[in-house]
Amino acid sequence: MPPTLSDRDLIAELLAFHVEAGVDIALGEEPVDRFAESASERATARRRGPMAADDSAPAAAAPRASAPDARPATAPASARPATARPATARAAPAAVPPAAPPPPDQAALEAREAAAHAPTLEALRHLLERFEGCPLKHTATRLVFADGNPKARLMLVGEAPGREEDIEGKPFVGRSGKLLDRMLAAIGIDRESAYIANVVPWRPPGNRTPTPQETAICLPFIRRQIELADPDVLVCLGGPSAQTLLGIREGITKARGRWMEYDTGTRTIPAMATFHPAYLLRTPLGKRMAWRDLLAIESRLTQPTARSSG
Ligand code: URA
Repeated sequence: MPPTLSDRDLIAELLAFHVEAGVDIALGEEPVDRFAESASERATARRRGPMAADDSAPAAAAPRASAPDARPATAPASARPATARPATARAAPAAVPPAAPPPPDQAALEAREAAAHAPTLEALRHLLERFEGCPLKHTATRLVFADGNPKARLMLVGEAPGREEDIEGKPFVGRSGKLLDRMLAAIGIDRESAYIANVVPWRPPGNRTPTPQETAICLPFIRRQIELADPDVLVCLGGPSAQTLLGIREGITKARGRWMEYDTGTRTIPAMATFHPAYLLRTPLGKRMAWRDLLAIESRLTQPTARSSG
């Protein structure tokens, strides 16, 4: 029997409730009890003991001493596959689910240890794909690592992926990404001449702001990503990115457009905060100031640096 009008209203209300609660994408047909999964995962891990290996993990996940992306033998627990998974685990995810992430402090420590040992950007991406320390990984569809050219002189860092980015696996591909592309094009830059990433590489549910703990856990990875990309100019898109990476305390309206210094770990590079394109979509008046920032960035990029002149 087709739903009556009141059934339709009820369904519409339920849908609206879910969207408001941040559920805007269907990940499965049936609800999954993550608490029960964690308990069963811990029990499986205890039965198997600490040395169990994951046969189903991708080849890159296996530590290989000679490979450029090999991880050190001391890789932290949260960067390793959670537990051994029999081949049948994929067909019955509730039987052997991923382990509960470690407490935030421990996860941040493990992130620092893991990120410090990534010798290349590819290795860093593989590490993040295996890292179990950030709970956002389990609600996001996929890792959003970077887009553009890792050899570019300009690196831009946003806050965290949104819905479109989560689906495509690339940063800034939604509405704000399209505006970012237009802004960069105005100073002759495209995705081949810029490298783009986010402080947090997994989408927070419902596009909420990442918590301070989630940001702290992800921070060592984006720091290492900047160090490995080694850009000549760093641009933080929006207040949260600038607060996290440049340590600014004032709001973005005050902090934007000012050259600061960013220590990559191997050298100091010029860095600037500017408005996030999502803010500019809501506040078109800000575009005048963003245009000034873009001109300053363009001018900075025409200056030779230690890397480009050497
Ligand atoms: N906003 C961000 O900060 N990053 C993205 O990738 C998309 C939107």
